Amino acid sequence: MISDKRPLFDGQINFPIMLAPMVGLSHIGLRLLVRSYLPANARTIWPTEMLSSRRLPAQNVGETPETFRHESEDFLVPQILGNEEKYIRPSIERLKDWGARGIDINMGCPVRKALKHNYGVSLMGDPKYAAEVVDMARRSSDLPVSVKLRSGHQNDFQFLLNFVNGLVEGGASWVCLHPRTAEMKRKGKADWNQIKMLREAIDIPVIGNGDIQIYQDALRMFEETGCDGVMIGRALTSRPWILWQIGEKLGFEPPEGCEGKAPETKEEEASEYGRSLIYLTNVLEEYFEYKDGLRRFNFHLRVSHPWLNFGHALDKRLNRGKNFQEKREIISEFFAKPGLFQSHYTELAY
Ligand SMILES: Cc1cc2nc3c(=O)[nH]c(=O)nc-3n(C[C@H](O)[C@H](O)[C@H](O)COP(=O)(O)O)c2cc1C
Repeated sequence: MISDKRPLFDGQINFPIMLAPMVGLSHIGLRLLVRSYLPANARTIWPTEMLSSRRLPAQNVGETPETFRHESEDFLVPQILGNEEKYIRPSIERLKDWGARGIDINMGCPVRKALKHNYGVSLMGDPKYAAEVVDMARRSSDLPVSVKLRSGHQNDFQFLLNFVNGLVEGGASWVCLHPRTAEMKRKGKADWNQIKMLREAIDIPVIGNGDIQIYQDALRMFEETGCDGVMIGRALTSRPWILWQIGEKLGFEPPEGCEGKAPETKEEEASEYGRSLIYLTNVLEEYFEYKDGLRRFNFHLRVSHPWLNFGHALDKRLNRGKNFQEKREIISEFFAKPGLFQSHYTELAY
């Protein structure tokens, strides 16, 4: 958990759960949705989808779908993909003007395009250069710089430790480890033991990431690894209220506008999922060009529904909805009668 010994933002961050950067998902819509479950007295950091440092300097930051933001959003730490100072510096300058409070560098993306251009996880093949990239980013502004990385190309903790020590020398303020190798992509099991070993070996905050499905998993990650924070990706598309559940366990206040206890039973979670989808349709409709908003909603559904017992049945019905209004009607109808979604419960593997 975040401690005085390794504070984040000089102690201004007091809540140890954070949303992960995810292309096509971690936009203003998901951020506002997840934020609506943030305990009222909690502060955490917030990502963007990964942003290309080659494109940012020529863009109107704040007016592209990936950089839409709401004025209430604080502690935004956008993620950039890059490896050249001539792009990184102007990108960071623009992001700072936009309201970034920190800059995260992607050293985990394993897609072919990133490998071809030697950024993302391919930076892990060149520890010295990766440290220089952190240094470039740090020198570009007074914002703190973090790195999100994987275990590397091989399962070798000594390599990982040397690599991270280089990032620390380059000026990284914290790191987030997704302990899978590049080759594993998102398959197999994240090796939480590497989070534990890294936590014990370095002095800057270590945020753990990978395979959180329900709030109990996040509590288990704290317990098993001693990490300073837990970053959650896919599960926050299906259960954005994990922040409320964990806040409750850690003694935080309920989120603003949320009464009673956090959802706990299958039925409570199902109703909350219905509410969360409707909330998302509203934000997407407000901010995005219509087709783009619908595309993002469909992608959110595709990633989130397999994690819920009734997800498949709902997804099938929602495919019939051609616009946001029809989708909202299908969602309301599906969750109006408990018998309907309960009859579609299937057993999931957790
Ligand atoms: C659709 C999708 C897009 C992603 N895009 C990014 C990204 O832009 N930057 C990044 O660092 N990781 C990205 N990731 C990886 C996640 O941030 C996270 O490390 C991974 O999903 C494991 O965490 P989880 O098990 O909590 O989902 C992406 C993951 C998904 C599912």
